[in-house]
Amino acid sequence: MGIQSNMLKLADGNKIPQEGFGLYKITDQVTMNNSIQAAYQNCYRLFDTAQLYGNEKEVGQAFKNLSISRENIFVTTKVSEANQGYQSTIDSVKKSLKKLQMDYVDLLLVHWPIQRAFFDTWRAFEDLKKDGLTKSIGVSNFQIIHLQYLTTQANEMPVVNQIELHPRLTQKPMLKYDQEHQIITQAWSPLGRGVVLDIPELKSIAKQHNKSTAQIILRWHLQNGVSFIPKSVHPERIKQNADIYDFELSTDEMNQIDALNQYLRTGREPELTYENNHQY
Ligand code: A2P
Repeated sequence: MGIQSNMLKLADGNKIPQEGFGLYKITDQVTMNNSIQAAYQNCYRLFDTAQLYGNEKEVGQAFKNLSISRENIFVTTKVSEANQGYQSTIDSVKKSLKKLQMDYVDLLLVHWPIQRAFFDTWRAFEDLKKDGLTKSIGVSNFQIIHLQYLTTQANEMPVVNQIELHPRLTQKPMLKYDQEHQIITQAWSPLGRGVVLDIPELKSIAKQHNKSTAQIILRWHLQNGVSFIPKSVHPERIKQNADIYDFELSTDEMNQIDALNQYLRTGREPELTYENNHQY
């Protein structure tokens, strides 16, 4: 198995590549073209953007420049806090699609839970799916409490929950909840934005397998059964991050990595974002 054939099944019947490519912080057109080209050449098929990244136009343009056909890729975008609410969600997704030069996205995510528009936004998501503007609907940065709250009014539950997840924030109870409720967990910052790459225990495991620490971490995500979206602007790293299908971590090594958890976030605390209605 390699990156391209490695798909997970979603609860709505659609499929999602287990490993994808993050586009966070890639903004200029040249870097966007080069990064997407390197990722596509290395057989990544999932590309993850967001309204908040401010790069949907450049993402759409890169696919056009590279003549990559729509059916060969899986595209995710996310609705920002400012655009949440029933009608504003719908309007903003139409704008996103225009920027992406696409008729639909494969996956639409609520970027952060916020109290102001919690149920209205989700109702818009259900309608956007019905209207074919997105194939699947999901959430991001939701905790167990937010998913439980959503069940009280949702007609359809999210099929993906994209959360911050890496060896310093292993989120085992969240993973268990998602799994028990047929929700695919997807890791953002799967490499902890680079801050976990120098952990001695990971370096030692990497040496054993003749791999980099980044490859060890990504292999840990893979064997955990979660989807993950590493980001890099360097072609050799993009290649390296897809080269994780020719070795296996032992149960003991998986347990060693699990034990690195420190509940260390590089991003925002979801509960405070929920309360404030925006990222603080
Ligand atoms: P760069 O884009 O300069 O390669 P995350 O996906 O957890 O947000 O982490 C992304 C960060 O890790 C980026 O800063 C990226 O930098 C860096 N990175 C990505 N892949 C690798 C790798 N294989 N080795 C080292 N650093 C990496």
